[in-house]
Order: sequence, then C-alpha cells, then structure tokens
Amino acid sequence: MLLPSDPAVDDLREAFHNAPYLSNKHESYFESYAKLLAPYRGKDITFVEVGVFSGGSLFMWREFLGPKARVIGVEFNPDAVRWREAGFEIFIGSQSDPEFWKSFFETVGSVDVLLDDGGHTYEQQISTVHHALPWVKDQGLIIVEDTHTSYFKAFGYPSAFTFIEWVKVLIDNINSRCEQVTVSSLSYNKIVHSVEIFESIVAFKVDKRICISSKSISNERDSVDPEDFRFKDFETKIWWLPAGLRTTNFGRRLANSLAKRAHRRNLRRLKGFFG
Ligand SMILES: C[S@@+](CC[C@H](N)C(=O)[O-])C[C@H]1O[C@@H](n2cnc3c(N)ncnc32)[C@H](O)[C@@H]1O
Repeated sequence: MLLPSDPAVDDLREAFHNAPYLSNKHESYFESYAKLLAPYRGKDITFVEVGVFSGGSLFMWREFLGPKARVIGVEFNPDAVRWREAGFEIFIGSQSDPEFWKSFFETVGSVDVLLDDGGHTYEQQISTVHHALPWVKDQGLIIVEDTHTSYFKAFGYPSAFTFIEWVKVLIDNINSRCEQVTVSSLSYNKIVHSVEIFESIVAFKVDKRICISSKSISNERDSVDPEDFRFKDFETKIWWLPAGLRTTNFGRRLANSLAKRAHRRNLRRLKGFFG
C-alpha cells in the first residue's frame, strides 16, 4: 500500500539514491525532512549539516534544496575536507566545542537551517542547539536527527540529562512565555517559537519576532454569562436523595464520600493516559 506522500518526499528519496557516495538514513525520515525543508527549496539559503561521514548526504541536500543553496558541512574528521572539491564548504571541528562554534559562525554568519547528524551524544546535540540558536535566522530551523539515542543505553539512558529530557525543559521554557507560567527562566524561549517532534527527529523553529510574552486579552463584547461546565464531570450526583436529606450530616458525608470516589476514579483514568 502506498502512503499518501508529497512530491517533495519522492524528490528527497530520489536525491538520496542519486547521491554518488554513501549515506544511511531511516525510512521514516524522508516524510519528516520533506515536510520541514520543502519551504526552503529553490531558495537562496545557507544550510549546514553537522556530520559529513562519506559525503552522501551533502549531495542529497544539494540536489533537494537546489543550486541556490549554500551547503556547508561540519565534521570532526579532517578527511572531510575532500568534499571541498565537490563544491561544498567544509569546516573541521567538534560540535561540542564552544570555541569551534564561535569561530564557525563568525566566519559563516547567520544560517537558515542547521541539521545535526553528528555524533548523537546528548552533550553534542544540546551543545550544538545551544550555540547555533543565536545564529539561526528568523523563520529558520535547527533539526536534530537520530534523537532515539535518548533511549539507548549505550548513550547513557536512563538519565535526567538525555537530549529528549532537555527538549522537555525547552517545552517548559516555551510555555513560560505565558505570563501565569513561571516554571522556567531560561532564555531559549526568546528565540525558539516552537518545537516539532517527529520519530527520531526534533525541529526547533526559530522566529524571535513572534516569541512574545503571552497575555490574556478579551474582545470586550457582551457576555451572556453562560455557566462554566468545567467541573460538571466531577459533580457528585445525589439528586436521587430526597432534598430534605441532602443538607443533613448524612447527606453531606455521602456527598463527600462520593466526591472522593469520583476523584479517585478520575485519577485512575488520568494515569491511564500516561501509560
Ligand atoms: C551519522 S554520520 C553522518 C552521516 C551523514 N550525515 C550522512 O547522512 O551521510 C556522523 C558523523 O559525525 C561525525 N562526528 C562525530 N562526532 C562529531 C563531533 N563531535 N563533531 C563533529 N562531527 C562529529 C562523525 O565523524 C561522522 O562522520
């Protein structure tokens, strides 16, 4: 059975197979990448890939993004300089080294998209996003690939410091733009407008212009003062008790115990959603 897919997905798969050198991807990534990167195709953009390996993906991205894209590879292995001959800009250094990122961005300037397919350790992934974020243009993206390492023992799982745990911290941080939420005082939320989660891929969508502090507003129109039914679900139903008994000690104890039982039932149902 064919999946409903966009022509961009087929183009990306084709570019992957057309690449003259090795690249390994997961089958599920094409849909996610095509969705994330389609808006940048054919445009005059700067695209950075961390992790060059055999060079295959650099060719794939160039074919997919089009000839106007400036495609830059970042790699720790100095052999990667060989890809300069094929027209790619190659920078040698470690993605977990703040000094490397400083000199990289001071040379390259701001970028539209940075994709991390490097070493995949939590420290490398977090450090890359941290150092690159201030250099991503509005409407730009940071994509981190192979985030499944957050669940791999070989990379340190279980730990409170996996990349995905850090993404959860960023979610708290983004929600802290809401004036009633004060759980996180980090400042990523001034740059990252939203985070999109895919299987094994996380995308940070950058747009400083719309990272606004969120305050409640009203359209100031007339209200018909409807009753708010928010807690109706939990209301204890003792309508069947004769009205005279409801206000007695017996009626109150009964209502109380029914309310507690409803609360426990609700908690059990709620826990079910958490697996
Ligand atoms: C998964 S491969 C890249 C595959 C390539 N993007 C592709 O799809 O064909 C990972 C690469 O990241 C490089 N790498 C590992 N640690 C790194 C680091 N700290 N900084 C930069 N690159 C690193 C490795 O040398 C390796 O070439």
